[in-house]
Amino acid sequence: MTKCVYPGSFDPFTQGHLDILARALALFGEVKVAVLNNTRKRCFFTLEERLAFIRRAIEAEGLQNASAGAFEGLLADYVSREGASCVLRGIRGAIDYEYEAAMAALNKRLNPGCETAVLMASPEHIAVSSSMVREIGRLGGDIGSLVHEANRDMIAERLLQDE
Ligand code: PNS
Repeated sequence: MTKCVYPGSFDPFTQGHLDILARALALFGEVKVAVLNNTRKRCFFTLEERLAFIRRAIEAEGLQNASAGAFEGLLADYVSREGASCVLRGIRGAIDYEYEAAMAALNKRLNPGCETAVLMASPEHIAVSSSMVREIGRLGGDIGSLVHEANRDMIAERLLQDE
C-alpha cells in the first residue's frame, strides 16, 4: 500500500486539513503529516505547537495509519527518506491550483519517483484556511467550527494573546 506525505505549514491545523487527511486514509496505506520547520518562514505557532495540534486531532479521531513529523529542507528528499512515493495536497479552487501544479512538477523533477495526489476540499471547508483561523481568532471570533475541538481552546487563547 502506498505511503504518502502530506506536507504543509499547518499554522494551525484546521478542520479542512483534517478532512483531507481522513479522506486520504481511505486511499493510501499510510499518511505522514509533515510539518515544515523553516526558520525563514515565520509561523505564528511554534513547531511543537503545530505538531501537537495535529497529533491531538489524529488521536481524538482515532485515525489509524496516520502520524505527524517535522521536516526541513527539500520536500522531495523528505519523501525519499520516509520511503514514500507520493505527496498529498488539498486544494480549494483555481487559486490554489496554479501553485500546486508548479510544486508537483518541481517535486517530480527533483525526485522522479514522487507523484503528487490532490484532493479537492469538501464544500463545507472551501473557505477554511489557517490564515483565516488566525485572523478570526485574533479578533475574538468563534473558531470552534474551524479547528478540532481538542485544540480549540488552546488555539483561541494563543491567538487572543496576540492582540
Ligand atoms: O502549507 P503551505 O505553506 O502551503 O506548504 C508549503 C510546503 C511546505 C508544502 C512547501 O513550501 C514545501 O514543500 N517546502 C519545502 C521546501 C521545498 O521542497 N521547496 C520546493 C517545493 S517545489
